[in-house]
Amino acid sequence: MHHFHYVGKELYCEEVPLKRIAAEVGTPCYVYSYATLTRHFEVFDGAFSSVPHLTCFAVKANSNIGVLNLLGRLGAGMDIVSGGELFRVRRAGIPAKRVVYSGVGKTVEEIDYALREGILMFNIESAEELELINSRAGALGLKAPVAIRVNPDVDPQTHPYISTGLKKNKFGIDVDLALKEYERASKLENVEIVGVDCHIGSQLTELAPFVDALRRLKVLISRLEERNIHIKYLDLGGGLGIPYQSETPPHPREYAEALINELRNTPYTLILEPGRVIVGNAGVLLTRVLYTKQTPSKKFLIVDAAMNDLIRPSLYGSYHAIRPVIKNDEAGEEVVDVVGPICESGDFLARERAIQKSTSGDLLAVMSAGAYGFTMASNYNSRPRPAEIMVKGSSFEVIRERESWEDLVRLERIPSF
Ligand code: LLP
Repeated sequence: MHHFHYVGKELYCEEVPLKRIAAEVGTPCYVYSYATLTRHFEVFDGAFSSVPHLTCFAVKANSNIGVLNLLGRLGAGMDIVSGGELFRVRRAGIPAKRVVYSGVGKTVEEIDYALREGILMFNIESAEELELINSRAGALGLKAPVAIRVNPDVDPQTHPYISTGLKKNKFGIDVDLALKEYERASKLENVEIVGVDCHIGSQLTELAPFVDALRRLKVLISRLEERNIHIKYLDLGGGLGIPYQSETPPHPREYAEALINELRNTPYTLILEPGRVIVGNAGVLLTRVLYTKQTPSKKFLIVDAAMNDLIRPSLYGSYHAIRPVIKNDEAGEEVVDVVGPICESGDFLARERAIQKSTSGDLLAVMSAGAYGFTMASNYNSRPRPAEIMVKGSSFEVIRERESWEDLVRLERIPSF
């Protein structure tokens, strides 16, 4: 459920007409709904209320500090994958003690930063990383709390680019080798084993892969216990899908029930790392039609948002619904390609899509763009990145200004030679 809805013929975010935002802030821009973010977090987190748990929002899905701050105030922890994300989380006012740190390529600088801040747990992805974290913790006179990210080799049945828990993927340590790594870790002086972690992929629409992964982790944990290695945190990663088109992913309540059912009578604190399910349907990309263009084979709507603003359609062939901001029942529908101004044929937001007949100047909302939208945006074709807006009730605020042309060259220098 989200708070983008028509009032009469006009598309609103909560109580604000999107047309008003476009007039005041310009387009393209991302618009997020405070009520939707809150609801999604509370429904997800609430589904686990019967067990000790921490819901760590996956910052990569939407890293605006305004969004992070809101989730933090609702009690969220954070799942980070870089020093930059830790910086954002701290800037958003979230305690380091609520942060878990995943990612296959943590640098010395990032590890030191996270150690000094005192994060809850490093999710270790390789034997070499374990060594490095141990030695950096020693150098800083600290003890590093660690989990090993296990690659459980389950097929999440999702797009190959976003499946992460298969043997062939670069993530985690093979479930059969993890035991050996834990034994090694238990002998290291400057690490403390606190958890077991996995993350199998994103946009999952079935429960079975999550349950399979959890079962494999449980087997590992019992082997660890036989060796007197005891963990506190069981981190199951993120990955719950959302409806973009006709998908029917499990409700967070069903997801929670399935996991809790597997964990009966266990003492662990569950950690979840949801990203998309919290923010995906809480945001839209608002764009304006610049031109319509009829070619001998197709009709194109050329809009002012492009693949640099929202790359998911180009990169994954993802479907995002596109809705007119002003409905016109007389206009009828037509089949068009919705494309941006970028000089690549792969620059499209929708292909062969039936949408309300539009003319230049019309506003469109690209739906379900709150996750992996702005965070994957770039400046390709020297396009300033769009503004981000948060709506709460009848008011809205800019939570990231639109970049300027000046911003594009701010860090660049013409060399002296
Ligand atoms: N935890 C870890 C370690 C992850 O790698 C990810 C996502 C998550 C949690 C959150 O997964 P979620 O709940 O959002 O599915 N750019 C792609 C998605 C990439 C996901 C990468 N990892 C997209 O636009 O679909």
